[in-house]
Amino acid sequence: MASVARRPLPEEQPFAIHQDAVTDEIEMGDDPEQRTEEIRAPEEEEVMASIESSEAESSEAESAAPTHVVRDMERLGDDIPGFREKYRLIKRIGEGTFSTVYKAEDLQYDRYLNEWDIEEKEATKWVPPPVRRTQDDRDDHFRAQEQPRRRPKYVAIKKIYVTSSPARIYNELELLHVLRNCASVCPLITAFRHTDQVVAILPYFRHADFRDYFRHMTITDTAIYLRSLFTALESVHAHHILHRDIKPTNFLYDPATKRGVLVDFGLAEREGTDARPCLCHESPTVRRRRAEMSVAGQAGPQQGYPKADTRPSRRANRAGTRGFRAPEVLFKCTEQTTKLDIWSAGVILLTILSRRFPFFNSADDVEALVEIATIFGTKKMKAAGLLHGCVLETTIPTIGLGGFNLEKIILWSTCRTDGGKDGQGQPLDAEEKLAVEFLNRCMDLDPSKRISATEALQHDFLKLPEKGLPGYEEEDLDDEMDFVTV
Ligand SMILES: Nc1ncnc2c1ncn2[C@@H]1O[C@H](COP(=O)(O)OP(=O)(O)O)[C@@H](O)[C@H]1O
Ligand SMILES: [Mg+2]
Repeated sequence: MASVARRPLPEEQPFAIHQDAVTDEIEMGDDPEQRTEEIRAPEEEEVMASIESSEAESSEAESAAPTHVVRDMERLGDDIPGFREKYRLIKRIGEGTFSTVYKAEDLQYDRYLNEWDIEEKEATKWVPPPVRRTQDDRDDHFRAQEQPRRRPKYVAIKKIYVTSSPARIYNELELLHVLRNCASVCPLITAFRHTDQVVAILPYFRHADFRDYFRHMTITDTAIYLRSLFTALESVHAHHILHRDIKPTNFLYDPATKRGVLVDFGLAEREGTDARPCLCHESPTVRRRRAEMSVAGQAGPQQGYPKADTRPSRRANRAGTRGFRAPEVLFKCTEQTTKLDIWSAGVILLTILSRRFPFFNSADDVEALVEIATIFGTKKMKAAGLLHGCVLETTIPTIGLGGFNLEKIILWSTCRTDGGKDGQGQPLDAEEKLAVEFLNRCMDLDPSKRISATEALQHDFLKLPEKGLPGYEEEDLDDEMDFVTV
Protein backbone atom coordinates (compact mmCIF):
# COMPACT_ATOMS: atom_id res chain seq x y z
CA MET A 1 0.00 0.00 0.00
CA ALA A 2 1.30 3.43 -0.83
CA SER A 3 0.14 6.48 0.99
CA VAL A 4 0.57 10.21 1.08
CA ALA A 5 2.21 11.20 4.35
CA ARG A 6 0.07 12.26 7.29
CA ARG A 7 2.18 13.96 9.95
CA PRO A 8 2.29 11.88 13.13
CA LEU A 9 2.48 13.48 16.55
CA PRO A 10 6.09 14.15 17.57
CA GLU A 11 7.71 11.22 19.44
CA GLU A 12 4.98 8.88 18.29
CA GLN A 13 5.72 5.86 16.15
CA PRO A 14 3.97 6.30 12.84
CA PHE A 15 2.31 3.20 11.50
CA ALA A 16 4.46 1.37 9.03
CA ILE A 17 4.03 2.66 5.53
CA HIS A 18 5.13 0.39 2.81
CA GLN A 19 6.59 2.43 -0.01
CA ASP A 20 6.22 0.71 -3.33
CA ALA A 21 9.02 0.65 -5.81
CA VAL A 22 9.26 3.61 -8.17
CA THR A 23 8.07 1.54 -11.08
CA ASP A 24 4.74 1.34 -9.36
CA GLU A 25 1.63 2.56 -11.13
CA ILE A 26 1.19 5.51 -8.75
CA GLU A 27 4.18 7.06 -10.51
CA MET A 28 2.29 8.62 -13.33
CA GLY A 29 1.87 11.89 -15.02
CA ASP A 30 2.25 11.37 -18.73
CA ASP A 31 -0.95 9.54 -19.34
CA PRO A 32 -1.78 10.11 -22.98
CA GLU A 33 -5.51 10.24 -22.33
CA GLN A 34 -7.01 13.36 -23.89
CA ARG A 35 -10.15 14.36 -22.13
CA THR A 36 -12.17 16.80 -24.12
CA GLU A 37 -15.38 16.25 -22.23
CA GLU A 38 -16.65 14.84 -19.02
CA ILE A 39 -20.36 14.31 -18.94
CA ARG A 40 -21.32 14.23 -15.33
CA ALA A 41 -24.38 12.69 -13.83
CA PRO A 42 -27.21 15.20 -13.70
CA GLU A 43 -27.60 17.07 -10.44
CA GLU A 44 -30.85 15.29 -9.73
CA GLU A 45 -29.13 11.92 -9.74
CA GLU A 46 -26.40 12.86 -7.34
CA VAL A 47 -26.84 11.48 -3.90
CA MET A 48 -26.41 14.31 -1.50
CA ALA A 49 -25.79 14.37 2.18
CA SER A 50 -28.39 15.85 4.45
CA ILE A 51 -27.85 17.62 7.72
CA GLU A 52 -27.34 15.05 10.40
CA SER A 53 -27.24 15.34 14.12
CA SER A 54 -23.59 15.89 14.88
CA GLU A 55 -23.26 13.34 17.65
CA ALA A 56 -24.91 10.04 17.08
CA GLU A 57 -23.67 8.56 13.84
CA SER A 58 -24.67 5.19 15.02
CA SER A 59 -25.28 1.76 13.72
CA GLU A 60 -28.71 3.14 12.87
CA ALA A 61 -27.27 4.74 9.73
CA GLU A 62 -25.39 1.58 8.88
CA SER A 63 -28.35 -0.71 9.28
CA ALA A 64 -30.53 1.63 7.21
CA ALA A 65 -28.14 1.44 4.24
CA PRO A 66 -29.17 -0.72 1.28
CA THR A 67 -27.46 -4.11 1.14
CA HIS A 68 -25.28 -3.26 -1.84
CA VAL A 69 -23.95 -0.18 -0.02
CA VAL A 70 -23.14 -2.26 3.08
CA ARG A 71 -21.42 -4.79 0.81
CA ASP A 72 -19.37 -2.05 -0.89
CA MET A 73 -18.38 -0.66 2.51
CA GLU A 74 -17.24 -4.08 3.69
CA ARG A 75 -15.29 -4.58 0.50
CA LEU A 76 -13.52 -1.26 0.96
CA GLY A 77 -12.51 -2.30 4.49
CA ASP A 78 -11.22 -5.63 3.17
CA ASP A 79 -9.46 -4.26 0.10
CA ILE A 80 -7.16 -1.78 1.77
CA PRO A 81 -4.74 -3.34 4.27
CA GLY A 82 -4.95 -1.75 7.71
CA PHE A 83 -8.07 0.23 6.78
CA ARG A 84 -10.26 -1.09 9.60
CA GLU A 85 -7.73 -0.09 12.26
CA LYS A 86 -7.75 3.47 10.95
CA TYR A 87 -11.35 4.14 9.99
CA ARG A 88 -14.82 2.98 10.92
CA LEU A 89 -17.11 3.44 7.94
CA ILE A 90 -20.45 4.91 8.93
CA LYS A 91 -22.48 5.51 5.80
CA ARG A 92 -22.38 6.51 2.17
CA ILE A 93 -22.79 10.26 1.75
CA GLY A 94 -22.24 10.83 -1.92
CA GLU A 95 -21.99 9.11 -5.22
CA GLY A 96 -20.79 10.80 -8.36
CA THR A 97 -19.51 9.81 -11.77
CA PHE A 98 -16.01 9.23 -10.52
CA SER A 99 -16.28 8.32 -6.88
CA THR A 100 -18.27 7.18 -3.90
CA VAL A 101 -17.85 9.18 -0.71
CA TYR A 102 -18.34 7.68 2.76
CA LYS A 103 -18.51 9.21 6.19
CA ALA A 104 -16.17 7.47 8.61
CA GLU A 105 -14.78 7.86 12.08
CA ASP A 106 -11.05 8.59 12.25
CA LEU A 107 -9.97 5.97 14.80
CA GLN A 108 -6.33 7.08 14.92
CA TYR A 109 -7.01 10.81 15.17
CA ASP A 110 -4.97 11.12 18.37
CA ARG A 111 -1.82 9.77 16.75
CA TYR A 112 -1.47 12.63 14.30
CA LEU A 113 -1.11 16.35 13.99
CA ASN A 114 -4.49 17.48 12.74
CA GLU A 115 -3.99 20.99 11.41
CA TRP A 116 -7.00 20.46 9.19
CA ASP A 117 -9.36 20.27 12.15
CA ILE A 118 -10.74 23.80 12.37
CA GLU A 119 -13.58 22.70 14.64
CA GLU A 120 -11.13 21.30 17.16
CA LYS A 121 -9.08 24.50 17.07
CA GLU A 122 -12.19 26.55 17.76
CA ALA A 123 -13.46 24.17 20.45
CA THR A 124 -10.19 24.21 22.40
CA LYS A 125 -11.06 26.97 24.78
CA TRP A 126 -9.35 27.56 28.09
CA VAL A 127 -11.45 26.40 31.02
CA PRO A 128 -10.58 27.86 34.42
CA PRO A 129 -9.71 25.25 37.07
CA PRO A 130 -12.11 24.93 40.04
CA VAL A 131 -11.14 27.32 42.85
CA ARG A 132 -10.96 24.62 45.48
CA ARG A 133 -11.26 20.94 44.80
CA THR A 134 -13.49 18.73 46.89
CA GLN A 135 -12.69 15.03 47.19
CA ASP A 136 -15.47 14.34 44.65
CA ASP A 137 -13.93 16.79 42.20
CA ARG A 138 -10.60 15.07 42.58
CA ASP A 139 -12.16 11.64 41.98
CA ASP A 140 -13.91 12.95 38.87
CA HIS A 141 -10.68 14.49 37.68
CA PHE A 142 -8.77 11.19 37.99
CA ARG A 143 -11.59 9.22 36.38
CA ALA A 144 -11.52 11.65 33.48
CA GLN A 145 -7.77 11.19 33.15
CA GLU A 146 -8.12 7.41 33.12
CA GLN A 147 -10.68 7.47 30.31
CA PRO A 148 -10.11 10.46 28.11
CA ARG A 149 -13.34 11.14 26.29
CA ARG A 150 -13.68 13.27 23.25
CA ARG A 151 -16.15 13.57 20.50
CA PRO A 152 -15.56 11.16 17.63
CA LYS A 153 -13.71 12.72 14.72
CA TYR A 154 -15.21 12.26 11.31
CA VAL A 155 -13.63 12.15 7.90
CA ALA A 156 -14.98 11.85 4.38
CA ILE A 157 -13.46 8.95 2.48
CA LYS A 158 -13.51 9.43 -1.26
CA LYS A 159 -13.17 6.11 -3.02
CA ILE A 160 -12.15 6.98 -6.53
CA TYR A 161 -13.45 4.52 -9.10
CA VAL A 162 -10.78 2.23 -10.47
CA THR A 163 -11.92 3.12 -13.98
CA SER A 164 -10.64 6.68 -13.54
CA SER A 165 -7.36 7.23 -15.33
CA PRO A 166 -4.26 7.30 -13.12
CA ALA A 167 -3.41 10.75 -14.52
CA ARG A 168 -6.80 12.09 -13.49
CA ILE A 169 -6.50 10.69 -9.97
CA TYR A 170 -2.98 12.01 -9.60
CA ASN A 171 -4.09 15.41 -10.86
CA GLU A 172 -6.92 15.66 -8.30
CA LEU A 173 -4.69 14.67 -5.38
CA GLU A 174 -1.85 16.90 -6.49
CA LEU A 175 -4.04 19.98 -6.84
CA LEU A 176 -5.69 19.30 -3.47
CA HIS A 177 -2.23 19.10 -1.97
CA VAL A 178 -1.22 22.42 -3.58
CA LEU A 179 -4.41 24.06 -2.25
CA ARG A 180 -4.22 22.53 1.23
CA ASN A 181 -3.91 25.85 3.09
CA CYS A 182 -6.53 27.80 1.18
CA ALA A 183 -9.49 29.25 3.02
CA SER A 184 -12.84 27.61 2.19
CA VAL A 185 -11.16 24.78 0.25
CA CYS A 186 -11.59 21.31 1.76
CA PRO A 187 -8.04 20.12 2.53
CA LEU A 188 -6.67 16.67 1.79
CA ILE A 189 -5.66 14.85 4.98
CA THR A 190 -4.02 11.87 3.34
CA ALA A 191 -4.53 9.34 0.57
CA PHE A 192 -3.96 5.60 0.16
CA ARG A 193 -3.56 3.33 -2.76
CA HIS A 194 -3.72 -0.42 -2.82
CA THR A 195 -3.35 -2.03 -6.23
CA ASP A 196 -5.75 -0.03 -8.43
CA GLN A 197 -7.88 1.42 -5.62
CA VAL A 198 -7.17 4.97 -4.48
CA VAL A 199 -8.93 6.61 -1.54
CA ALA A 200 -8.60 10.24 -0.51
CA ILE A 201 -9.22 11.18 3.12
CA LEU A 202 -10.78 14.61 3.71
CA PRO A 203 -12.16 16.26 6.82
CA TYR A 204 -15.87 15.51 7.04
CA PHE A 205 -17.81 18.69 6.45
CA ARG A 206 -21.38 18.87 7.68
CA HIS A 207 -23.60 20.39 5.03
CA ALA A 208 -27.17 20.57 3.86
CA ASP A 209 -28.73 19.69 0.53
CA PHE A 210 -28.80 22.86 -1.60
CA ARG A 211 -32.32 22.01 -2.73
CA ASP A 212 -33.52 22.17 0.87
CA TYR A 213 -32.34 25.70 1.60
CA PHE A 214 -31.81 27.76 -1.55
CA ARG A 215 -35.45 28.83 -1.81
CA HIS A 216 -35.39 30.28 1.71
CA MET A 217 -32.17 32.25 1.41
CA THR A 218 -32.41 35.98 2.07
CA ILE A 219 -30.20 38.35 0.13
CA THR A 220 -27.76 38.53 3.06
CA ASP A 221 -27.70 34.70 3.31
CA THR A 222 -26.94 34.61 -0.40
CA ALA A 223 -24.14 37.13 -0.02
CA ILE A 224 -22.63 35.12 2.88
CA TYR A 225 -22.83 31.90 0.83
CA LEU A 226 -21.18 33.54 -2.18
CA ARG A 227 -18.57 35.31 -0.10
CA SER A 228 -17.44 31.91 1.12
CA LEU A 229 -17.46 30.46 -2.41
CA PHE A 230 -15.56 33.44 -3.87
CA THR A 231 -13.03 33.25 -1.02
CA ALA A 232 -12.29 29.69 -2.14
CA LEU A 233 -12.19 30.75 -5.80
CA GLU A 234 -9.82 33.61 -5.05
CA SER A 235 -7.19 31.26 -3.63
CA VAL A 236 -7.75 28.57 -6.26
CA HIS A 237 -7.40 31.17 -9.04
CA ALA A 238 -4.38 32.77 -7.35
CA HIS A 239 -2.71 29.38 -7.86
CA HIS A 240 -3.72 29.62 -11.55
CA ILE A 241 -5.98 26.62 -11.14
CA LEU A 242 -9.37 26.25 -12.82
CA HIS A 243 -11.85 24.21 -10.79
CA ARG A 244 -14.07 23.59 -13.85
CA ASP A 245 -16.96 22.09 -11.93
CA ILE A 246 -18.42 24.82 -9.73
CA LYS A 247 -21.98 23.81 -8.80
CA PRO A 248 -23.96 23.41 -5.58
CA THR A 249 -22.99 19.76 -4.97
CA ASN A 250 -19.32 20.69 -5.07
CA PHE A 251 -19.66 23.54 -2.61
CA LEU A 252 -20.61 22.04 0.72
CA TYR A 253 -22.47 24.60 2.75
CA ASP A 254 -23.89 24.45 6.23
CA PRO A 255 -26.62 27.10 6.61
CA ALA A 256 -26.52 26.65 10.39
CA THR A 257 -22.89 27.76 10.74
CA LYS A 258 -22.87 29.71 7.45
CA ARG A 259 -19.66 28.00 6.43
CA GLY A 260 -18.84 26.45 3.11
CA VAL A 261 -16.00 24.48 1.56
CA LEU A 262 -15.17 23.80 -2.05
CA VAL A 263 -14.64 20.13 -2.90
CA ASP A 264 -14.11 17.95 -5.95
CA PHE A 265 -11.03 18.90 -7.90
CA GLY A 266 -11.60 15.91 -10.18
CA LEU A 267 -11.84 18.09 -13.29
CA ALA A 268 -9.56 20.89 -12.11
CA GLU A 269 -6.51 21.85 -14.14
CA ARG A 270 -3.78 24.41 -14.26
CA GLU A 271 -4.50 27.43 -16.41
CA GLY A 272 -2.87 27.01 -19.80
CA THR A 273 -2.88 23.20 -19.81
CA ASP A 274 -3.08 22.07 -23.47
CA ALA A 275 -3.93 25.66 -24.44
CA ARG A 276 -3.61 26.86 -28.01
CA PRO A 277 -3.97 30.50 -29.09
CA CYS A 278 -7.58 31.64 -29.31
CA LEU A 279 -8.83 34.84 -30.93
CA CYS A 280 -10.25 36.00 -27.61
CA HIS A 281 -6.73 36.85 -26.50
CA GLU A 282 -6.11 39.01 -29.61
CA SER A 283 -6.94 42.69 -30.02
CA PRO A 284 -10.41 43.62 -31.36
CA THR A 285 -8.78 44.81 -34.62
CA VAL A 286 -7.06 41.48 -35.24
CA ARG A 287 -10.29 39.68 -34.40
CA ARG A 288 -12.32 41.80 -36.81
CA ARG A 289 -9.81 41.25 -39.62
CA ARG A 290 -9.78 37.51 -39.05
CA ALA A 291 -13.60 37.40 -39.00
CA GLU A 292 -13.80 39.31 -42.29
CA MET A 293 -11.29 37.00 -43.93
CA SER A 294 -12.99 33.82 -42.73
CA VAL A 295 -15.10 31.62 -45.01
CA ALA A 296 -18.22 32.53 -43.04
CA GLY A 297 -17.36 36.22 -43.12
CA GLN A 298 -16.95 36.23 -46.91
CA ALA A 299 -19.97 34.07 -47.72
CA GLY A 300 -22.29 35.98 -45.41
CA PRO A 301 -25.06 34.50 -43.25
CA GLN A 302 -26.03 30.99 -44.29
CA GLN A 303 -28.50 28.46 -43.07
CA GLY A 304 -27.43 24.91 -42.36
CA TYR A 305 -23.85 23.71 -42.46
CA PRO A 306 -21.41 22.87 -45.27
CA LYS A 307 -21.73 19.26 -46.46
CA ALA A 308 -18.07 18.75 -47.17
CA ASP A 309 -16.37 20.78 -44.48
CA THR A 310 -12.65 20.31 -44.86
CA ARG A 311 -11.70 22.31 -41.80
CA PRO A 312 -10.28 20.30 -38.92
CA SER A 313 -12.74 19.93 -36.07
CA ARG A 314 -12.18 22.22 -33.15
CA ARG A 315 -11.04 20.55 -29.97
CA ALA A 316 -11.10 22.09 -26.54
CA ASN A 317 -11.59 21.01 -22.97
CA ARG A 318 -15.31 21.02 -22.26
CA ALA A 319 -15.14 19.30 -18.91
CA GLY A 320 -17.83 20.43 -16.52
CA THR A 321 -21.48 19.92 -15.71
CA ARG A 322 -24.24 20.79 -18.11
CA GLY A 323 -26.07 23.93 -17.15
CA PHE A 324 -22.95 25.39 -15.53
CA ARG A 325 -20.63 25.58 -18.54
CA ALA A 326 -19.47 29.07 -19.46
CA PRO A 327 -20.16 30.34 -23.00
CA GLU A 328 -16.45 30.21 -23.89
CA VAL A 329 -16.44 26.49 -23.00
CA LEU A 330 -19.51 25.95 -25.21
CA PHE A 331 -17.80 27.90 -28.01
CA LYS A 332 -14.76 25.62 -27.53
CA CYS A 333 -12.31 28.37 -26.66
CA THR A 334 -8.82 26.90 -26.75
CA GLU A 335 -7.39 29.35 -24.23
CA GLN A 336 -9.80 29.07 -21.30
CA THR A 337 -9.14 30.94 -18.09
CA THR A 338 -10.17 30.87 -14.44
CA LYS A 339 -13.09 33.13 -15.45
CA LEU A 340 -15.06 30.05 -16.47
CA ASP A 341 -15.55 29.27 -12.75
CA ILE A 342 -16.97 32.76 -12.21
CA TRP A 343 -19.68 32.09 -14.80
CA SER A 344 -20.64 28.87 -13.00
CA ALA A 345 -20.76 30.72 -9.66
CA GLY A 346 -23.04 33.23 -11.44
CA VAL A 347 -25.33 30.36 -12.46
CA ILE A 348 -25.59 29.40 -8.77
CA LEU A 349 -26.54 32.99 -7.92
CA LEU A 350 -29.08 33.05 -10.75
CA THR A 351 -30.53 29.81 -9.37
CA ILE A 352 -30.90 31.29 -5.89
CA LEU A 353 -32.39 34.58 -7.07
CA SER A 354 -34.79 32.92 -9.51
CA ARG A 355 -35.67 30.12 -7.06
CA ARG A 356 -35.28 27.64 -9.94
CA PHE A 357 -33.06 24.59 -9.83
CA PRO A 358 -31.72 23.55 -12.18
CA PHE A 359 -31.95 26.90 -13.94
CA PHE A 360 -30.47 25.69 -17.23
CA ASN A 361 -31.54 22.26 -18.32
CA SER A 362 -30.04 21.45 -21.68
CA ALA A 363 -29.28 18.02 -23.09
CA ASP A 364 -26.16 19.11 -24.95
CA ASP A 365 -23.90 22.05 -25.71
CA VAL A 366 -25.96 23.36 -28.64
CA GLU A 367 -29.07 23.42 -26.49
CA ALA A 368 -27.04 25.14 -23.77
CA LEU A 369 -26.06 27.86 -26.28
CA VAL A 370 -29.73 28.23 -27.23
CA GLU A 371 -30.68 28.67 -23.57
CA ILE A 372 -28.04 31.35 -23.02
CA ALA A 373 -28.89 33.06 -26.33
CA THR A 374 -32.56 33.20 -25.30
CA ILE A 375 -31.60 35.30 -22.30
CA PHE A 376 -28.86 37.45 -23.79
CA GLY A 377 -30.22 37.76 -27.34
CA THR A 378 -28.52 37.02 -30.67
CA LYS A 379 -26.64 40.33 -30.89
CA LYS A 380 -24.56 39.76 -27.76
CA MET A 381 -24.37 36.03 -28.35
CA LYS A 382 -22.98 36.42 -31.88
CA ALA A 383 -20.38 38.84 -30.52
CA ALA A 384 -19.51 36.31 -27.81
CA GLY A 385 -19.03 33.60 -30.46
CA LEU A 386 -16.85 35.83 -32.64
CA LEU A 387 -14.53 36.36 -29.66
CA HIS A 388 -13.52 32.73 -30.11
CA GLY A 389 -13.78 32.64 -33.91
CA CYS A 390 -17.27 31.08 -33.94
CA VAL A 391 -20.10 32.29 -36.13
CA LEU A 392 -23.51 31.82 -34.56
CA GLU A 393 -26.52 31.61 -36.81
CA THR A 394 -30.02 30.83 -35.66
CA THR A 395 -33.53 30.85 -37.05
CA ILE A 396 -35.18 29.93 -33.77
CA PRO A 397 -38.03 32.45 -33.51
CA THR A 398 -37.99 32.63 -29.70
CA ILE A 399 -34.45 33.97 -29.64
CA GLY A 400 -34.72 37.71 -29.99
CA LEU A 401 -32.08 40.21 -31.01
CA GLY A 402 -31.85 42.01 -27.69
CA GLY A 403 -32.78 39.27 -25.24
CA PHE A 404 -33.92 40.15 -21.75
CA ASN A 405 -32.21 41.66 -18.79
CA LEU A 406 -31.51 39.43 -15.81
CA GLU A 407 -33.72 41.54 -13.56
CA LYS A 408 -36.73 40.66 -15.76
CA ILE A 409 -35.77 36.99 -15.80
CA ILE A 410 -35.67 36.96 -11.99
CA LEU A 411 -39.00 38.76 -11.66
CA TRP A 412 -40.65 36.33 -14.07
CA SER A 413 -39.25 33.25 -12.49
CA THR A 414 -40.35 34.37 -9.03
CA CYS A 415 -43.81 35.26 -10.43
CA ARG A 416 -43.36 38.95 -9.68
CA THR A 417 -43.61 42.10 -11.76
CA ASP A 418 -42.10 45.49 -11.29
CA GLY A 419 -45.63 46.87 -11.27
CA GLY A 420 -45.29 49.03 -14.36
CA LYS A 421 -47.59 52.01 -14.36
CA ASP A 422 -50.17 50.65 -11.93
CA GLY A 423 -47.48 50.15 -9.27
CA GLN A 424 -49.09 46.89 -8.12
CA GLY A 425 -46.05 44.70 -8.55
CA GLN A 426 -43.29 43.52 -6.26
CA PRO A 427 -40.20 45.03 -7.81
CA LEU A 428 -36.70 44.15 -6.68
CA ASP A 429 -35.56 46.04 -3.60
CA ALA A 430 -32.22 47.86 -3.39
CA GLU A 431 -30.32 44.80 -2.09
CA GLU A 432 -31.81 42.52 -4.72
CA LYS A 433 -30.84 45.05 -7.38
CA LEU A 434 -27.32 45.02 -6.01
CA ALA A 435 -27.33 41.22 -6.27
CA VAL A 436 -28.48 41.44 -9.90
CA GLU A 437 -25.80 44.03 -10.65
CA PHE A 438 -23.25 41.56 -9.26
CA LEU A 439 -24.85 38.73 -11.24
CA ASN A 440 -24.42 40.75 -14.45
CA ARG A 441 -20.71 41.04 -13.66
CA CYS A 442 -20.41 37.27 -13.13
CA MET A 443 -22.39 36.37 -16.24
CA ASP A 444 -20.61 38.65 -18.68
CA LEU A 445 -20.40 36.72 -21.95
CA ASP A 446 -16.88 38.05 -22.49
CA PRO A 447 -14.54 36.27 -20.04
CA SER A 448 -12.01 39.11 -20.17
CA LYS A 449 -14.66 41.57 -18.93
CA ARG A 450 -16.16 39.17 -16.37
CA ILE A 451 -15.42 40.04 -12.75
CA SER A 452 -12.51 38.18 -11.11
CA ALA A 453 -12.83 36.48 -7.70
CA THR A 454 -10.65 39.16 -6.08
CA GLU A 455 -12.74 41.97 -7.57
CA ALA A 456 -15.91 40.12 -6.56
CA LEU A 457 -14.87 40.11 -2.92
CA GLN A 458 -14.62 43.91 -3.13
CA HIS A 459 -18.08 44.25 -4.68
CA ASP A 460 -20.73 45.88 -2.50
CA PHE A 461 -22.94 42.81 -2.80
CA LEU A 462 -20.35 40.51 -1.23
CA LYS A 463 -19.76 43.15 1.42
CA LEU A 464 -23.39 42.98 2.53
CA PRO A 465 -22.60 40.41 5.28
CA GLU A 466 -20.35 43.02 6.93
CA LYS A 467 -23.35 45.27 7.41
CA GLY A 468 -24.37 43.41 10.52
CA LEU A 469 -20.89 43.71 12.05
CA PRO A 470 -19.95 46.34 14.64
CA GLY A 471 -18.34 49.44 13.21
CA TYR A 472 -20.33 49.30 9.98
CA GLU A 473 -21.86 52.62 9.16
CA GLU A 474 -25.15 52.37 7.39
CA GLU A 475 -25.14 54.38 4.20
CA ASP A 476 -28.06 56.53 3.32
CA LEU A 477 -29.96 54.04 1.20
CA ASP A 478 -32.32 55.65 -1.26
CA ASP A 479 -36.08 55.43 -1.48
CA GLU A 480 -35.96 52.05 -3.16
CA MET A 481 -35.59 50.51 0.28
CA ASP A 482 -39.31 51.17 0.78
CA PHE A 483 -40.25 48.51 -1.74
CA VAL A 484 -41.68 45.23 -0.58
CA THR A 485 -39.13 42.50 0.14
CA VAL A 486 -40.13 38.94 -0.68
N1 LIG B 1 -15.32 16.50 2.83
C1 LIG B 1 -16.59 16.13 2.68
N2 LIG B 1 -17.44 16.18 3.73
C2 LIG B 1 -18.73 15.80 3.59
N3 LIG B 1 -19.25 15.35 2.44
C3 LIG B 1 -18.46 15.27 1.36
C4 LIG B 1 -17.09 15.66 1.41
N4 LIG B 1 -16.54 15.50 0.20
C5 LIG B 1 -17.53 15.04 -0.60
N5 LIG B 1 -18.69 14.90 0.08
C6 LIG B 1 -19.99 14.45 -0.45
O1 LIG B 1 -19.78 13.55 -1.52
C7 LIG B 1 -20.30 14.11 -2.74
C8 LIG B 1 -19.39 13.73 -3.89
O2 LIG B 1 -18.07 14.20 -3.64
P1 LIG B 1 -17.16 14.80 -4.80
O3 LIG B 1 -15.82 15.10 -4.27
O4 LIG B 1 -17.91 15.92 -5.44
O5 LIG B 1 -17.07 13.54 -5.77
P2 LIG B 1 -17.42 13.33 -7.33
O6 LIG B 1 -16.14 13.60 -8.05
O7 LIG B 1 -17.82 11.90 -7.43
O8 LIG B 1 -18.52 14.29 -7.69
C9 LIG B 1 -20.39 15.62 -2.48
O9 LIG B 1 -21.37 16.23 -3.27
C10 LIG B 1 -20.76 15.64 -1.00
O10 LIG B 1 -22.14 15.41 -0.83
MG1 LIG C 1 -18.74 16.32 -7.24
